[in-house]
Amino acid sequence: DLFDLVDLLAERHALSHEEYRALVEGQTPELASYAAKKADALRREIYGTDVYVRGLIEIGNYCRNDCIYCGIRKSNANCDRYQLTREQILECCEEGWGLGFRTFVLQGGEGIVPIPEVCELVREIKSRYPDCAVTLSLGEYSRADYQAMFDAGADRYLLRHETADKAHYEKLHPASMSFDNRMHCLRDLKEIGYQVGCGFMVGSPYQTPDCLATDLKFIETFDPEMCGIGPFIPQKDTPFGDQTAGTADQTIYLLSLIRLIKPNVLLPATTALGTIDPLGREKGIQAGANVVMPNLSPVSERKKYALYDNKICTGDESAQCRSCLNLRMESIGYSIVTARGDIKK
Ligand code: SAM
Ligand code: FES
Repeated sequence: DLFDLVDLLAERHALSHEEYRALVEGQTPELASYAAKKADALRREIYGTDVYVRGLIEIGNYCRNDCIYCGIRKSNANCDRYQLTREQILECCEEGWGLGFRTFVLQGGEGIVPIPEVCELVREIKSRYPDCAVTLSLGEYSRADYQAMFDAGADRYLLRHETADKAHYEKLHPASMSFDNRMHCLRDLKEIGYQVGCGFMVGSPYQTPDCLATDLKFIETFDPEMCGIGPFIPQKDTPFGDQTAGTADQTIYLLSLIRLIKPNVLLPATTALGTIDPLGREKGIQAGANVVMPNLSPVSERKKYALYDNKICTGDESAQCRSCLNLRMESIGYSIVTARGDIKK
């Protein structure tokens, strides 16, 4: 039965597409809590009760892309655009360093900051804080651009694949965007030597159990160092503004399955999960996640990085988020550590 399948996954870290689909379709509260227990045991073997923290700096919301689900898509005329200056970004790092962050994630809309400027910024951050890690999440670029950012000192790159089912991908993106190119980018990043993060939205429009099985199979074979998943949440100014959001329960269950597939993977309990359920991040950590990514962006611009509606923490100072998360993690018996938080292999 399905409980045996969970056991098999915990042992072999691989299943067939049909078996993954059966696990997705057969989700019940009992099966989910069984999977969560197994996932948490695996994560504790490797990472104990440590939770790694990443300082997320949302560097700007201008974007050349038009992902149908996303609030900062270029055709959203209601999006209030901003771009942080180099000095603002470095100030965020300085504040973050003082708060104990040893990884900075620079994320933003795609194709806005020229690559030489990104490289200069990465070099500056790495020279100011030699023992920090820099993660970039800036979208799709050429292999040469990825190489230049890597040579400048970037350690990690997050590029969610969004969905591993090509037909589904095409329903979530305009014809100008290409599934094959996104997959190509992920392979380039890996070959260059980045620690790479893929990931997908849970409950995005037109997603089926088959799509999710394809996502799990992709994670199994691509073997990422990081995997970012969070519920799809509608944003009112997008064509998907009236669609229903993904659920916390399904996201948490999938976090457990991903931990069982990849015992070592760096797996965040995301802000989107904390947005649809006030205790979402805690539940995610208890179900196998081991990373949280609080916001380090200047509070003056936070609300503008509105990928989806009702995003949490947009009014809180970075220090508040940091201590809030400390308390939240301590309340469930885990603790945030001051460390780069590289993958343990
Ligand atoms: N531009 C970069 C890229 O495309 O990878 C990084 C920024 S992009 C806004 C970060 C992630 O936000 C996407 O990979 C997507 O999964 C997520 N996202 C966008 N719109 C969302 C929504 N409505 N609900 C939940 N997540 C969303
Ligand atoms: Fe931001 Fe709690 S994590 S206020």
